[in-house]
Amino acid sequence: MSKKLIIANWKLNPTTLKDAQKLAGSISLKAKNKVVLCPPTIYLSQIDYPNLGAQDCFWADKGSHTGQTSPAQLKDLGIKYCIVGHSEKREVGDTDEMVNAKVRACLAQKIIPVLCVGFGTTVEQDDLEVTDVLRAQLNINLKGVDPSKVVVAYEPVWAISKGNPYQTRAADADHAEKMAIFIKTKFKAGKVIYGASVNVNNAKGFLSQPNIDGLLTGGVSLMAKDFNTIINL
Ligand code: 13P
Repeated sequence: MSKKLIIANWKLNPTTLKDAQKLAGSISLKAKNKVVLCPPTIYLSQIDYPNLGAQDCFWADKGSHTGQTSPAQLKDLGIKYCIVGHSEKREVGDTDEMVNAKVRACLAQKIIPVLCVGFGTTVEQDDLEVTDVLRAQLNINLKGVDPSKVVVAYEPVWAISKGNPYQTRAADADHAEKMAIFIKTKFKAGKVIYGASVNVNNAKGFLSQPNIDGLLTGGVSLMAKDFNTIINL
C-alpha cells in the first residue's frame, strides 16, 4: 500500500502542556504513513513533531481581530497544515463563505488546508443526498481556489465520536470511497481523506480504498498505542 496521510485532530485535548508533549513524544517518528499532529493552538509552538497542523485559523493575517490566529502566524511557526470547516466549528458559526476565506488565506501562506465537509449529513441519507450536501459546501468552500492544493476530509457528522471512536459507528468504507470519488471527479481535490470514528478495527478498511488518501482521526489519536498501530498500517 502506498503512503497515506494520517492526520490527528486532538480537538480540545489534553488539558496540560506536559500531557500534550508526552502524547506527541509517544507517536512514532518512523511510521509507514505520513503523520500530521494537530494539537490545540496554544501548544503548537511547544510540540516537537515533524509535521504539525492547526485545528483552525482566521482569514486575515493581522489586525484588530481579538482572539484569532492567522495563517501568517502559523506559517512563522513552521506549521504545514490547517484544518478548516470542521463540523464542530461550523456548529458554532462558521459559514461556507468563512470557510472559503480561511482556505484561501491558508493557501496564500502555503499552508495546506484540510477542508472538512459533510456537515448536516445524517445516517439515514443515501449517497445521492450526501453528494448534494457535499456539492453545496464545496461549490462555496473551494470558490476561487486551486483544488489540487487542498486536502478534503469527508466527515459524516453523524459518525463523529464524542471522544471514544469505539463507542460510535463509522461510515462504511465503500460509502466513503464513493464520496471520495465524487469529490475527486467533480471538484478535483488533491487528496481526499476520511474521518469519523476511525479506530484500530476499521482503519484498514478505509486505507485499502484506492481513492481514500488517508484519515482524519479524532478520539483514537489520543490513544498512543492505537494511533501508532494505525499510522503503521
Ligand atoms: P472521531 O474520530 O473521534 O470520531 O473524530 C473525528 C473528527 O472529528 C476528526 O476531525
